[in-house]
Amino acid sequence: METEIASGRGALLRGAEIIKRGGVVAFPTETVYGLGADAYNADAVAEIYRAKGRPSDNPLIVHIADTEQAEGLVTEFSDAARAVAKAFMPGPVTLILPKSPAVPNAVSAGLPTVGIRMPSHEVAREFIRECGVPIAAPSANVSAHISPTSAAHVYEDLKGRIPLIIDGGECGVGIESTIIDLSSDVPTILRPGAVTEEMLTEVLGEVTTFRGEVKVAKAPGMKYKHYAPKCDTVVADGPDAAAAEYAARRAEGKRYLILARESDCKALGREGVLSLGKTDEEVCRNVYGALRYAEKHADGIIFVDLGDDGICGSVMNRVNKSAGGRRVGLPK
Ligand code: TXA
Ligand code: MG
Repeated sequence: METEIASGRGALLRGAEIIKRGGVVAFPTETVYGLGADAYNADAVAEIYRAKGRPSDNPLIVHIADTEQAEGLVTEFSDAARAVAKAFMPGPVTLILPKSPAVPNAVSAGLPTVGIRMPSHEVAREFIRECGVPIAAPSANVSAHISPTSAAHVYEDLKGRIPLIIDGGECGVGIESTIIDLSSDVPTILRPGAVTEEMLTEVLGEVTTFRGEVKVAKAPGMKYKHYAPKCDTVVADGPDAAAAEYAARRAEGKRYLILARESDCKALGREGVLSLGKTDEEVCRNVYGALRYAEKHADGIIFVDLGDDGICGSVMNRVNKSAGGRRVGLPK
């Protein structure tokens, strides 16, 4: 299959035609690119799993263009859901709510709940509106690889497997949406993102963040290997630990690349170092592109810890998974 990359109104309309015929289309959102299909068409949804090589027990988020589209998807839109929607939708947040029987099991992977998200990206909203149905979509990468933040990233992973990538430029946020489970007694963050625990607490009062290891149910996706570059990846406690690790690898004849925020780059010099940017938002926007660059150009990645504050904590949630939990400190 030829994979076309196209932008503009014509691409949107072609994409909507493909969706209406039961096919899959990659499209931009403000977080990462998604691989979409008609959420009410179980066969179309099955095609997403096939194209990505995704395990079938990992449910999909359903994307909507307006609140009316949520009505057929959930049995109840609670006060908490309304409050979060008012504060952060459209935007980088996904609500887990009790699902309506109309949502195929192929979307929810058999769970009694469904994830709902209204992207703020104009192209995403216009595309969903043209499709006329809610769009089920995971990130548009090969399962377990790094999520795509540009049309080129999607092409790298899915060329030959999907007919069309709608190009909407680089994603502004850069990591996947915050997932908040509102189907449990206490609202629970299942995946941190750009809408932080602090921001949600302001709106909801009590919020907890799920930090455990997932073996069954709740957030099935969390149990899989994720965000994994194709090369060795470690997290370093700080710039000094990163420099020591870099030197040790260099002595073995290997070229690693250190990824760090701009302020840490000063301590590191320029050789073998890639800056992720100055602000937290820049770092978040650049992180997946940097991991993809590094896996192509280096023997391995040394990622300097960003700390757990706010958005940086959400970025480290992904990077710690990229590294499979491997860390290096200073030699004792
Ligand atoms: O920003 C995003 O959320 C992107 C863009 C494309 O919208 N989408 C995305 O989808 O990251 P995906 O499939 O790569 O990640 C969705 C995560 C998975 O970990 C899945 O297990 C979890 O959401 N999930 C989906 N439905 C769920 C449900 N009903 N209950 C618990 N977790 C759910
Ligand atoms: Mg994903």
